[in-house]
Amino acid sequence: MTAGSRLPAIDFGNMIAGVLEGTGLDPLRWRGDLAERFRDAHDEVEMRREAGETGFFDLPADHLLAAATLRMADNFARQCDALVVIGIGGSALGAAALRNALLPPLWNELDDEARGGLPDLHILDNPDPDTVSGLLTRLDPARTLFNVVSKSGTTAETMAQFLVVWRWLEDTLGAERARDGFLFTTSPERGTLRELATRYDVPTLPIPDAVGGRFSVLSPAGLFPAAAVGIDIEAVLAGAAAMLRRCATPELTANPAGTLATLLHAADTEMGASVQVFMPYADRLGGFAYWVQQLWAESLGKALDRAGRRVETGPTPVPAFGAADQHSILQLLMEGPRDKVVVFLGRGAPGADVAIRNPFTDIPDLAYLGGHTLFGLLDRERRATAEALRREGRMNMTVTVDRVDAHSLGGLFMLFQIAVVYAGALYGVDPLDQPGVELGKVLTCGLMGRSGYEVPSIPPPDPRWRV
Ligand code: PA5
Repeated sequence: MTAGSRLPAIDFGNMIAGVLEGTGLDPLRWRGDLAERFRDAHDEVEMRREAGETGFFDLPADHLLAAATLRMADNFARQCDALVVIGIGGSALGAAALRNALLPPLWNELDDEARGGLPDLHILDNPDPDTVSGLLTRLDPARTLFNVVSKSGTTAETMAQFLVVWRWLEDTLGAERARDGFLFTTSPERGTLRELATRYDVPTLPIPDAVGGRFSVLSPAGLFPAAAVGIDIEAVLAGAAAMLRRCATPELTANPAGTLATLLHAADTEMGASVQVFMPYADRLGGFAYWVQQLWAESLGKALDRAGRRVETGPTPVPAFGAADQHSILQLLMEGPRDKVVVFLGRGAPGADVAIRNPFTDIPDLAYLGGHTLFGLLDRERRATAEALRREGRMNMTVTVDRVDAHSLGGLFMLFQIAVVYAGALYGVDPLDQPGVELGKVLTCGLMGRSGYEVPSIPPPDPRWRV
């Protein structure tokens, strides 16, 4: 274990009646119906795990895959000045969360020496021409590696950007050398990327079949880019493995992922808190909050339950960022509709703290700040906000890590992945599929003229309803 990094802990007193002002979950239920309900959810998840449907559970122990990822990263890292990940959704958000949490801020602005000779890291998810063309003009084609990440190998946004880049490399380096600019992370057997890898002898890393897109952060989808920029992926996996062990028990009171899932499910379905705000008080956990948003939304927002009945269920996850969003969304959280629960993400210590030295000691309004540190301020703001919400009877809880490091981040990834599959079982939906994104994809293919797809009739905007 990385020194000083224990597993994330959850403080949820501010969800419990008798602590939370005027409302809250009955504490007796913690050893009663909620514990029983969780035991059933745990059993269901274990069955799916044994059936090989939830491959993310196995990633921390897949030492061969981790070793292959590290080897590939070592091979490439020193040969390129820039690494560009092309992927979207689950094939980008994990890498972005790792980059944000574990690289020094402004990594791409650092000089070669400060980066220890390791490459820049860029992530292209949205196929926005301004972004793509802007980035390509800054890159040296001969010194850039493009890591195309797509489990299906067919996603339009990813494949379109891949085509743009392949042609750009052909134009700048010649057809023979274009293929040297790529590494594909994709299904071990299926899909267009796999086919192209075989045809052009492009190196690949696998996303195992049983690992879904949004559950792929601990596969090469997240870990190759991380390793290539020097992140200790073995520590990430060790943190995930430790959390996995913590969450093995069907006892609700001892299982952190079960606790998180049970609280958020009850907040939504019993207490009307269908909006779930994930609010880190650490810039380094900003990417993680976006990763959680996708994990939560795509896994739990479902029209049908597992028995095929129409339920149209699922909470709405919203990332917010402390302390900046205290000056934005907090007013609504404190006084708006009681349809929200806040999950604060805190840390015991920052990477580096900054002392506040006050040269204006004669100005009373500033005097109280002097002698503190920026972390001291930020963390007190988190605690004060949680307390203010509690006093107003607004549900909230806090997930805390000792510090944001590779081990604790691995623990956080695993905590939320396990929690979301438990939550799926509690809602009675399948957290592993995403049928709702299909229709938009099919219509896009039709509009793009893809063969086999009907051109949809989408009426032009009606001028009567334009202003
Ligand atoms: O969670 C998911 O399955 C999705 O968010 C996918 O990750 C996303 O659609 C990208 O898919 P792919 O990796 O197949 O390109």
